[in-house]
Amino acid sequence: MGKKIKDRKGDVLFDSYYQTIFQERWPILREALLAQRQPIAFQQQLKQAYFLDEASLIAAQLLNVQKGDSVLDMCAAPGGKTLVLASLLEGTGHLTSNDRSATRRGRLKSVIESHVPDEWKPSITVTGHDATKWGLYEQQAYDRILLDAPCSSERHVLVDPTALKEWTPARPKHLAIQQFAMLAAALEAVKIGGYILYSTCAINPMEDELIIEKLFTKRSDRFSIEEIHASESERKSYGSIMLPDTSQGKGPLYFCLIRRVS
Ligand SMILES: C[S@@+](CC[C@H](N)C(=O)[O-])C[C@H]1O[C@@H](n2cnc3c(N)ncnc32)[C@H](O)[C@@H]1O
Repeated sequence: MGKKIKDRKGDVLFDSYYQTIFQERWPILREALLAQRQPIAFQQQLKQAYFLDEASLIAAQLLNVQKGDSVLDMCAAPGGKTLVLASLLEGTGHLTSNDRSATRRGRLKSVIESHVPDEWKPSITVTGHDATKWGLYEQQAYDRILLDAPCSSERHVLVDPTALKEWTPARPKHLAIQQFAMLAAALEAVKIGGYILYSTCAINPMEDELIIEKLFTKRSDRFSIEEIHASESERKSYGSIMLPDTSQGKGPLYFCLIRRVS
């Protein structure tokens, strides 16, 4: 049986894996994932507009950043959500925009350089740390943390024949381990009373609400889940998800707002 699964092509495995999760919804959702994206222009005091999925804009705003906050964007490249956070701070407080990949960090720097007004730039620092280890170096340091975690990004897999061919169920499992380590690190790094927005563009529950569920089994006394309402999103056991078949093409984007309580 194991060998048979191993021999099956990634595209066949991918389809049967997500069919099992979404059942009769899968063909409709699959089609919506394959449809042309419709990014929107975000400008709000920036030097020029940045085009991003509306779901990303909504999610970054849900972190409810206040002027003067100390904010960490743990996985920030290429930088769409960092621009939203910067526009909420308007040069006050501090924004640390982090990404471990040197190549993607280069893109992040140029996005900040070309979009953020010069007078805001002294309050933004770009760093290249491993988010899974953040809690070892900084504890209770931030009012708000955005953790837009690396994920399966099924929408991208579906449109990339090579990625689809190479897909195996081991991929989401491996990512889920990293995502949980990052979320546990974020919980260390946020101040008591501060907020973390955990988000992914994965549709797999293993990378979404099950990460939050795992945090409950390990650190239930340390945080609470905040109720958030975003139109065109669906409630999950923890957090909400926007899926393109029911949100007029937006997403996918899963998000959950967490408050550290002790
Ligand atoms: C979903 S993307 C972030 C998208 C970004 N928030 C935006 O709105 O443009 C995830 C990012 O996580 C970065 N990443 C992957 N592993 C990481 C790690 N261990 N520490 C920090 N960043 C990591 C990847 O390089 C990638 O740029």
